[in-house]
Amino acid sequence: MTIYRATVLDTPDDPFTGGVLRSEQDAGIVVGDGQIVARGPWPVVRADYPDEDVIDLRDGLLLPGFVDTHVHFPQVRVIGGLGLPLLDWLDRYALPEEARLADAAKAGEVAREFLAGLVSAGTTSALVFGAHFHDAVDVFCAQAADSGLRIAVGLVVSDRLLRPELLTDPDRAYAESMDLARRWHGRGRLRYAVTPRFALSAGDELMDSCAEVLRDVPGALFTSHVNENPAEIEEVARLTGATSYVDAYDRHDLLGPHSVLAHNVHPTDGELAVLAARGGAVAHCPTSNAALGSGLFPMRRHVAAGVPVALGCDVGAGTGFSLVKEGLQAYFLQRLQPDGLLLTPAHLLWLATAAGARAIGLADEVGDLSVGKRFDAVWLRPLPGDPLAVGLTHAADPPEALAKVFALGTPSDVAAVWVDGRPVGVGGDLPA
Ligand code: GUN
Ligand code: ZN
Repeated sequence: MTIYRATVLDTPDDPFTGGVLRSEQDAGIVVGDGQIVARGPWPVVRADYPDEDVIDLRDGLLLPGFVDTHVHFPQVRVIGGLGLPLLDWLDRYALPEEARLADAAKAGEVAREFLAGLVSAGTTSALVFGAHFHDAVDVFCAQAADSGLRIAVGLVVSDRLLRPELLTDPDRAYAESMDLARRWHGRGRLRYAVTPRFALSAGDELMDSCAEVLRDVPGALFTSHVNENPAEIEEVARLTGATSYVDAYDRHDLLGPHSVLAHNVHPTDGELAVLAARGGAVAHCPTSNAALGSGLFPMRRHVAAGVPVALGCDVGAGTGFSLVKEGLQAYFLQRLQPDGLLLTPAHLLWLATAAGARAIGLADEVGDLSVGKRFDAVWLRPLPGDPLAVGLTHAADPPEALAKVFALGTPSDVAAVWVDGRPVGVGGDLPA
């Protein structure tokens, strides 16, 4: 067993329903076989476990690993394509790059860049939008399995309106999805996610084939996009027989506690009621919504309706892998709208960790650093003299320290990342 000695911040209880930030100044967290077996004030923990190895993380802050509920693996190289609304951005930046992943060797390179990007930002679990090509997803899964991260991913399917090389048909979509699920679902920390790109590009029969995969792969997730952009929403209304964008998925029985729909910037009250009734979550992607000019996310209406919300960085429309940055942008965009919620640092940490764990079905395993949870954690340790280091030194209390993390933190402050108690990726030596 190993004891991690650190200042620990986490949110075991939902701040949207009265939970508060939990902070422990000099805590000991005892980890055995990847699981947190004890936790408490350092002197108490040390007395109970006098002989165990200690990793001293007092210089900095220890947080639960971040949980990203919406991020596209094929889009690493198109980050920063600013200035266009969604449908033009897809045509100009995203879809030409996604077509290039027909080349599995290129998919392998992009997968490496993508997984490195997640780890560098302190993300330990993610619901990942895959590629339109079976072999690209297969290559990605092999690397994701090796990375140690908790990844849910699937074949992205579409059968209309996109460039022809990205299209499939319902039978092929079913066969290729099932093949990938058989190969990877439940292997290590990987799970399968059924993924029609969006209702715009997936017709009724393809949606039905997605529902079949969902039925035939117990424990699979479902993910797609919804209500992101007014022109997109209008087109979905014109193309589908659905009563709403949410209904375009719901009428095929695709929504439930296993579903995560990204964006939902422009929902009706009726759509929020359906999402709440099904128990599906929404991935809020604030830098993407701002970069594409998609609109201001109505968080207050989601919370009031009882729709669970978590964060997604939405690379490549989003501007990077950092859920710290997404948290800050979520704060800004709520601040700037008349009916916005005033988000506290505890809300931001919740959205970046435990809310995501709930959204992707990992609430019993990760999301906070309680006894019984797996040790998925990120150690933030800014370099001496860095504005965040200065800020943390002068923070009056833990909420203020956390506010400084969200205001100033970047991937360069991520000094170590663990999944299941094992260090992943970042490099550099841990203090003994
Ligand atoms: N809707 C359909 N595809 C995409 C995508 O790749 N990014 C975003 N932001 N929205 C989408
Ligand atoms: Zn997306």
